[in-house]
Amino acid sequence: ASFSGAGMIQTLGAWALRRIDPETGHGLALRALGLGLGPRGGPVASPRLAVEVAGLSLPNPIGLAAGFDKNAVALQGLARCGFGFVEVGATTPRPQPGNPRPRLFRLAEDRAVINRFGFNNNGMEAMAARLAARPAGMVLGLNLGANKDSADRAGDFAAVLTRCGERVDFVTVNVSSPNTERLRDLQGAAALAALLSGVMAARAGLARRVPVFLKIAPDLDGAALAEIAGVAQAHGVDAIIATNTTLSREGLKSASRDEKGGLSGAPLFEKSTRVLAQLSALTRIPLIGVGGIATAEQAYAKIRAGASAVQLYSALVYDGMDLPATIARGLDALLARDGFASVADAVGGGRSDWL
Ligand code: FNR
Repeated sequence: ASFSGAGMIQTLGAWALRRIDPETGHGLALRALGLGLGPRGGPVASPRLAVEVAGLSLPNPIGLAAGFDKNAVALQGLARCGFGFVEVGATTPRPQPGNPRPRLFRLAEDRAVINRFGFNNNGMEAMAARLAARPAGMVLGLNLGANKDSADRAGDFAAVLTRCGERVDFVTVNVSSPNTERLRDLQGAAALAALLSGVMAARAGLARRVPVFLKIAPDLDGAALAEIAGVAQAHGVDAIIATNTTLSREGLKSASRDEKGGLSGAPLFEKSTRVLAQLSALTRIPLIGVGGIATAEQAYAKIRAGASAVQLYSALVYDGMDLPATIARGLDALLARDGFASVADAVGGGRSDWL
């Protein structure tokens, strides 16, 4: 019980999240963050937490996953939540409304979320304007998407990169959202190779070499992962983000478990960590682990499974915006406990536990 602004927002936020429609609640939380309410710290930093990923210097390896701030409206507030890096978007060339509401569901008993937003966003012109006013000093990435009705989806990724790429520190080719029909077909070897050729050609036209990350689904078998790793390597992908949401519904208790869409949060942790460990055995491309992280121990487990950095989203819904700082500090303590001088020293050491 605190009367500070941040405490009020936490309390209001927790109340809103229980009572209000989830999408409305999320909109309020974003609005509050955009107004500068919320946590007051900066990125949590320590020599042990500092890490280099694909040429980016992160103060700590705890990142905000894509989809939380689709239109980059809350960057000022997000810069103070303790994150080592933030990814905004997905952004498509043209604005689009996404799927009809309701399209966001809380599965509280499962500590999970189902969403079927379908890349609702303000489009790349609006994103370019927002990025022009980005706060200094934060490591910021942009998640690239394709318009639902596009005749050339591969071209869409390149178009958003061309328009916005120089304003961010990395971009992510997101071919793993389950909510745009057939988008995940772009993960197949031939389609992925063609897509990445276009994206890398677009990158070559920028004034600066912007790192290109690739984000994959958790619902892929070993053969598919091996193909993706090979194609990513051949095209010079700078990092792979594993993973996006899952189509699986295993072991859920909540009433909303049969809603269509992508499942994230606690039930995704094991599956996404296995995919991460498998990839780590297949490639030397740096990996970013995402899926079900809610504690420092889980962030540490992903790093030991092979991640150089991690991202999270769903746990923020249940635990609030102080969570990233709490996880970063907890990770620092776990690394110290186990005698690691840096995050890098711990990467991949526990991979075999997941294979
Ligand atoms: C997402 N995610 C997502 N990913 C992406 O690459 N582009 C996007 O636009 C979105 N949008 C989105 C919306 C919502 C409401 C959720 C919950 C998730 C996926 C997200 O970035 C992450 O990969 C998964 O949610 C798994 O991590 P967590 O949530 O279990 O920590």
